[in-house]
Amino acid sequence: MSIPRHLTYDLRHKVAIVVGGSRGIGRAISERLGREGAAVVVNYVSNDEAANNTVRTIAEREGKALAVKADISRIPDIQRLFDEAQTAFGEIDIVVANAATAIIKPFIEFTEDEYDQVFNVNAKGIFFIVQEAAKRLRNGGRIIVTSTGGVRMLIPGNALYLASKGTIEQLVRTVAQELGPRNITVNAILPGYTTDLLPERDRRVAAEASPFKRIGEPEDVADVALFLASNEARWITGQELGAGGGVF
Ligand SMILES: NC(=O)c1ccc[n+]([C@@H]2O[C@H](COP(=O)([O-])OP(=O)(O)OC[C@H]3O[C@@H](n4cnc5c(N)ncnc54)[C@H](OP(=O)(O)O)[C@@H]3O)[C@@H](O)[C@H]2O)c1
Repeated sequence: MSIPRHLTYDLRHKVAIVVGGSRGIGRAISERLGREGAAVVVNYVSNDEAANNTVRTIAEREGKALAVKADISRIPDIQRLFDEAQTAFGEIDIVVANAATAIIKPFIEFTEDEYDQVFNVNAKGIFFIVQEAAKRLRNGGRIIVTSTGGVRMLIPGNALYLASKGTIEQLVRTVAQELGPRNITVNAILPGYTTDLLPERDRRVAAEASPFKRIGEPEDVADVALFLASNEARWITGQELGAGGGVF
């Protein structure tokens, strides 16, 4: 069957969960998968308005989407997220584990509470999202984890954030081996400076570091996620794919 002209990769009949899919890069991924025909579950933790806006945008383009509020640092929430996704759209094909939180400050100032706050989402939360995906995904499914190019750039002040991201990259490499026999691929995307959250001065420095002389748009990263989610990426697994505009 040929792919209709308006689709780059055909995700019709696929069901995707985008964890942290309501804002920023996650929103762009939700919208991109939705535009390609996937039914998208947009997960978020607190900002109802952003999640509802994302769902509305997908629906306006005649896509299918549902917002599910669930805190991935809580295991029962993770199970409910997958239950609600399956009840709404059926068996799941694609899970994008994109949610994260960050605290940036000098290494010697981090407290135990801050460690728990960041690791509970970025490491524990993503670990159990990937585990639930491994239990429930259809054979031939896709798991995509958002890490960060920071793991290669090693910027001071990022010790806690990058330590948490390092754990999920190791997870990707290991789980890819276990899920290969089911033709499920497991990969990480490493975005560079991507959103306009950076102060103006930092944005200029970041843009200068790229041979393209700009920082990334969420859509630049979303297109990489779309590719990894597609059938065309079936031979790529256990990889960390840099999507940083040539900065690292
Ligand atoms: N932005 C960058 O320049 C950049 C660069 C490199 C890597 N990254 C990585 O790319 C990913 C997205 O970054 P971003 O800046 O686009 O994120 P963002 O705009 O801060 O959005 C974060 C998303 O995650 C959700 N979330 C946060 N904690 C959660 C939890 N406990 N349970 C469920 N959902 C939760 C948020 O929901 P609410 O809206 O409800 O809060 C939101 O949908 C992250 O993994 C980040 O580390 C970002």
